[in-house]
Amino acid sequence: MCGIIGYTGSLKAKNILLEGLTALEYRGYDSAGISMFEKDGIRTIKAAGKVADLAKKTEEYQDLNGTSGIGHTRWATHGGVTECNSHPHTYGKVTLIHNGIIENYHELELELAATGRYPVSQTDTEIVAMLLDSLYTGNAIAAIKAAAAQLDGAYAFCIMFADEPEVIYCLRNASPLLACKSKEGTFVASDVVALIGYSKDYFALPEQQIARLTKDSITVTNDMDEVVIPKMLHVSWDITAAQKKGYPHFMLKEIHEQPDTILSTILPRITKEGIVDFTVEQIPDTIFKDVNRIIITACGTAMHAGLIGRVMLEKLLRIPVEVEIASEFRYMDPIMDHYTLVITISQSGETADTLAALRLAKSEGATTLSIVNVKGSTIDRESDYVLYTQAGPEIAVASTKAYTAQLSCLYLLTYRFALVRGTITTQQCKEYVTELRNVIPAVKEALTLNKHIDDICSNLADKEDLFFIGRGIDYPLCWEGSIKLKEISYIHSEAYAAGELKHGTLSLITDGVPVVAIATQSKVLTKMISNIREVRARGAFVILITNGEIELEASAYDYPIVLPKTPDYLTPFTAAVALQLLAYYSCVHRGYDVDQPRNLAKAVTVE
Ligand code: AGP
Repeated sequence: MCGIIGYTGSLKAKNILLEGLTALEYRGYDSAGISMFEKDGIRTIKAAGKVADLAKKTEEYQDLNGTSGIGHTRWATHGGVTECNSHPHTYGKVTLIHNGIIENYHELELELAATGRYPVSQTDTEIVAMLLDSLYTGNAIAAIKAAAAQLDGAYAFCIMFADEPEVIYCLRNASPLLACKSKEGTFVASDVVALIGYSKDYFALPEQQIARLTKDSITVTNDMDEVVIPKMLHVSWDITAAQKKGYPHFMLKEIHEQPDTILSTILPRITKEGIVDFTVEQIPDTIFKDVNRIIITACGTAMHAGLIGRVMLEKLLRIPVEVEIASEFRYMDPIMDHYTLVITISQSGETADTLAALRLAKSEGATTLSIVNVKGSTIDRESDYVLYTQAGPEIAVASTKAYTAQLSCLYLLTYRFALVRGTITTQQCKEYVTELRNVIPAVKEALTLNKHIDDICSNLADKEDLFFIGRGIDYPLCWEGSIKLKEISYIHSEAYAAGELKHGTLSLITDGVPVVAIATQSKVLTKMISNIREVRARGAFVILITNGEIELEASAYDYPIVLPKTPDYLTPFTAAVALQLLAYYSCVHRGYDVDQPRNLAKAVTVE
């Protein structure tokens, strides 16, 4: 939701903070600010707009030589996008930055008004600075603990007290905060992409524990003021993995990384005999044996991957699988018990609704298994079992390689599940695994459709509404195609079960309305062809996505996208590439920001 960076050491803090904010900007980018300890006290510079705007503003100051400071790039939750509302916020001796939402900030504001303290911004964060100032009597940790006891909500704070130059305090609850130490000093950030240039060894600050960063050390203490040694984590990829490598946008790079990331995700889970095995992941077969019901819960694209996973799991296991939107699941009082397996899917591992769904499942005694991309993330650390997607850092807000890596994990899970429960034989498992591996060259070939799809998208540049229609496994693909297109090209689109159109929505299909028809499933192809003719008869502009050639007259569509042939049940991998490219080039033709679309952030760490 927001990007946080803190540093104290021997180097010029301004440069480190701005570099860190640039790396974190995908987490939120409507305004930014930095505060540093300078000779004359704490100096704060803020700007509405991008980190580049803030960097330009700092050039007006030649005396920013401090070697300790904090920085923040914002995704607005409380208060408009203004310089005043951007972080850091200072009140009295306290300067802080915050990622999260304080649910009870208004009650606190009223209580603080009684002490003569009033905010100048519209943010919940400034109220926390005021609260800390009201509690601070010279002991920073005591003030932080007393404030935390009064806060409801999600937060990750970096706090500076004017009385303690070059010291940074940190505290978190639900929102992520990672820290590391190097010869240059000590660092704290929302995401490892901002730390990896200094150290590949880091730790996640445990919740409700306070970290005190000085130039030489990081001390973590618990609520009993006992020193805690956090578990160290190691990041396997290098800093270049989080850079564009010559692509115009992170999203295009990440789309093209998919053959490698699918391979990296499936290969380590396949034995030399060619079957799926999770020994390394320490996922025991027992969880597959005892389960009588599966619930998949996630948000956005991760949830769409779950919809595909459900088709596969029910196809091979013949047990009920539900897919629930996490923000609904957590409030619907769901029925679960020890025999329920709850699978949470999350690229960031920090999505607040998915995390809350996971915690609810655990509280109800369900077994929890998460499919996560970011190691050391909160969902990773709180799940009973984890199956990592090996997609590397995904920087573009629009999720692409994480989606196909999530699919890969779901197909692998299905095969291990079915093997353990005996609904497929070892030989069948080997065949499924072989076909899954063979989808990689098909994905590589699908990427060569980029120029063709770019040409098609030139017809969409002036469109404001579009429909995705499909049947069977193509229908959840429509959901993914729709969110991709909406979130970056800002073309409104709707995913529709093709067989359902005539029950109402067909009234919206008139001359020139674009319809993306995904027709890859042989079993329902005849019906799908009828639906394509229905929309065509009403003047639709039809983009047809198929899994090889199909029997349909050329007059029934405007542009075909013929995917490399795969078994029908594996077309989500190749169709995903086509849908991602469709969204990408539509956005480029419309001239919008591909990697940092308006109003969005990469990880939604608040409700
Ligand atoms: C997908 O393109 C979006 N960025 C969004 O729907 C995302 O998938 C969703 O917020 C879930 O994020 P997560 O996978 O990190 O939990």
